[in-house]
Amino acid sequence: EVAVLDYGSQYSQLIVRRVRELGFVSHLYAPEKLGELKGPGAIILSGGPRSTSEKDAPDVDFEKLKAFGVPVLGVCYGMQLLNIKHGGTVKPGVTREYGPARLITGEPCTLFQGLSHDSQIWMSHSDTVQHLPEGTKVVATNQDSVPVALQWGEACYGIQFHPEVTHSHEGTKILENFLSLAKGKLAKFSITDFKNQMLEQIRKEVAGREVLCGVSGGVDSTVLAVLLHKAGIKQRCIFVDHGLLRKHEREDVVAQFAEVGVPIEVVDASAQFLGALKGVTDPEQKRKIIGNLFLDVFFGAADHVELLAQGTLYPDVIESATSGSIASKIKTHHNRVDRVMELKEAGRVIEPLAELFKDEVRALGAELGIPHRALWRHPFPGPGLAVRVPGEITEERLTSTREADAIFMEELRKSGWYEKTWQAYAALLPVKTVGVKGDERSYEQAISLRAVISEDAMTADWVELPYQVLRNTSNRILNSVKGVNRVLYDISTKPPASIEWE
Ligand code: XMP
Repeated sequence: EVAVLDYGSQYSQLIVRRVRELGFVSHLYAPEKLGELKGPGAIILSGGPRSTSEKDAPDVDFEKLKAFGVPVLGVCYGMQLLNIKHGGTVKPGVTREYGPARLITGEPCTLFQGLSHDSQIWMSHSDTVQHLPEGTKVVATNQDSVPVALQWGEACYGIQFHPEVTHSHEGTKILENFLSLAKGKLAKFSITDFKNQMLEQIRKEVAGREVLCGVSGGVDSTVLAVLLHKAGIKQRCIFVDHGLLRKHEREDVVAQFAEVGVPIEVVDASAQFLGALKGVTDPEQKRKIIGNLFLDVFFGAADHVELLAQGTLYPDVIESATSGSIASKIKTHHNRVDRVMELKEAGRVIEPLAELFKDEVRALGAELGIPHRALWRHPFPGPGLAVRVPGEITEERLTSTREADAIFMEELRKSGWYEKTWQAYAALLPVKTVGVKGDERSYEQAISLRAVISEDAMTADWVELPYQVLRNTSNRILNSVKGVNRVLYDISTKPPASIEWE
């Protein structure tokens, strides 16, 4: 395997993921676990937020590291640490260098083989190496001749930039080149083995207890529920119908779970939710009501909780560290509320997907036999259609939204655009406008269509859907959705708009 020592960078798990993408087994370890590693084929030291000059800065057992006799790569903090271990020094930074730089390579070096000249790399650091120990080779600099890649001995390298982020244009190639130094000694990554390891790990962690799992039909909770099921865990999967679902969504979710053979319990709380939302128009008020009621209903259905399973993914874990981020907001709804935090502190929450990225979850889901359609569902917000129906939520307004949304989804699927968009939906606007229907004046509502691409929901761009798709959707909505006489297409980026209307 490729052992990645975690010095706390936002990107540590991303290195693991890149190595897996390159086809090799990789795991993240706390640096102090170095001694427990069993025959790693290569070791990567990640970046980190600390400074090597700080007291108690995270360290590496250099003797043990050398004793493995395998290729070593230090990234950012990892490089600075290696420089110190080889006898050099690091200068604490006053300002932070963040952003793109150029990689200027020198004499031929395995790490940079096959790279284009002057490749873009991504920096995020404040400390820099100062004194280089004797025998250190500077194998690349930035555009200002500052060393950004060092070599000590045969197969020990340090790079100041982050090869794991896509902003380092040829970063993956650099990692691939590094791993080529360990040729033959690295285990091949296989999703089947990976799945089996996860099943094993879950059995160990759960240790015979009963697990409660909230399912929504979305990718993460579906993969989680199936994973627990395949691990033979005694589990209760609860699906709350809050009355704010899309057309046929409840039936679809029930069918989806029937197809994968996982029993779920449906709790119909729609009357309760719609009752509580009656007359409420303030977006935050709506969210609060829905969030609290959801927990009441969910935990109410579960009489007791031994263990709670959550489908938290790695980006959620990382994002939750930065307050005010979208992800932390998303988590406020499901994962971070007091009731869940209490359980978490009591060691009664498991998050088996917390090391994975969305596409890895999808690959795992496919390996578990989950149908493609379920794995490629667009994200759908916890508060459901409530955030797509600005103004008061009534059964009638929900119905118009559902009908329009279903038409839009059908047209997107038919034209092949559903999977090319990250998220798409119809919202119902709280305005009425004048039109003509037949020979009569109409005074009806407007539907706004939104389709976006995004990587992580933090930013988003609207999709340039073909006019034909928009035209078909609009025609069908205007012809068949009661109470609607106008269709708009939302061309707002995020920021400043958000993806949802509320
Ligand atoms: P915004 O509207 O904030 O949405 O740009 C970003 C992404 O998050 C989803 N979203 C939510 N998901 N609970 C969720 O599970 C929520 O309360 C929530 N609010 C927004 C939204 O659909 C988009 O994908």
